[in-house]
Amino acid sequence: MPDAGRRDAAYSITLTDGTATRTREAAPVDLVPVQEMHRRCSPVTRALRYHAGKSGLTAAEWRHLSSPERGTTLVTTPAGRTDHIIAMTNVMHTDQQGVGELAILVEDAWQTNGLGTALAEHAATVARRVGHHALAATVAAGNMPMLHVLEKLDATPVESTGPVLDLVIVLQSDPSQPSRCGEMPVH
Ligand SMILES: CC(C)(COP(=O)(O)OP(=O)(O)OC[C@H]1O[C@@H](n2cnc3c(N)ncnc32)[C@H](O)[C@@H]1OP(=O)(O)O)[C@@H](O)C(=O)NCCC(=O)NCCS
Repeated sequence: MPDAGRRDAAYSITLTDGTATRTREAAPVDLVPVQEMHRRCSPVTRALRYHAGKSGLTAAEWRHLSSPERGTTLVTTPAGRTDHIIAMTNVMHTDQQGVGELAILVEDAWQTNGLGTALAEHAATVARRVGHHALAATVAAGNMPMLHVLEKLDATPVESTGPVLDLVIVLQSDPSQPSRCGEMPVH
């Protein structure tokens, strides 16, 4: 059953340019702003996220991603425009007990401001909270920004299939991490 309190909680991230953002759990009603964000993204950004030429998300795909039974999807907005989604982070369940699957999409105009790094760190906290001991990520071998983000979380490659790398982040239990809301400046 969805935890309404958790869904309302927002996590604050301040970007390197000083912009304040809010990250919260996604809900089915976020479909339209999530689709709009996908439309604003470049084809390259979408291809790096989905490993396929994809113009956007369908309603069925969003139902899957925003279903708490399937995992946790977070959406990020500027603090002053909470209906304008600029990033999506997924920590989805896998068929391996205790292993979540991480994926992040930051809209082109909001990239290289520290958001991807802060969202990956927050995703690790979320994954620990739901009981995962590891996060897996599948990344194009040439996707240097995402590889750089994952390197900061000590991700290690476990398999390389052609142009794609499978990496794993082992999650140490860390009670000092914020469990629900917090402030993470990324300067
Ligand atoms: C990967 C992604 C999430 C990173 O988001 P972001 O907000 O730009 O990330 P950050 O600003 O925190 O950091 C990006 C890092 O990559 C580095 N980087 C950027 N371009 C780079 C390049 N060509 N080579 C090496 N490093 C690069 C940046 O310098 C930065 O590192 P730093 O903080 O040490 O300077 C974002 O680029 C994105 O959404 N890409 C498309 C979708 C995708 O690839 N998703 C991952 C697949 S799951």
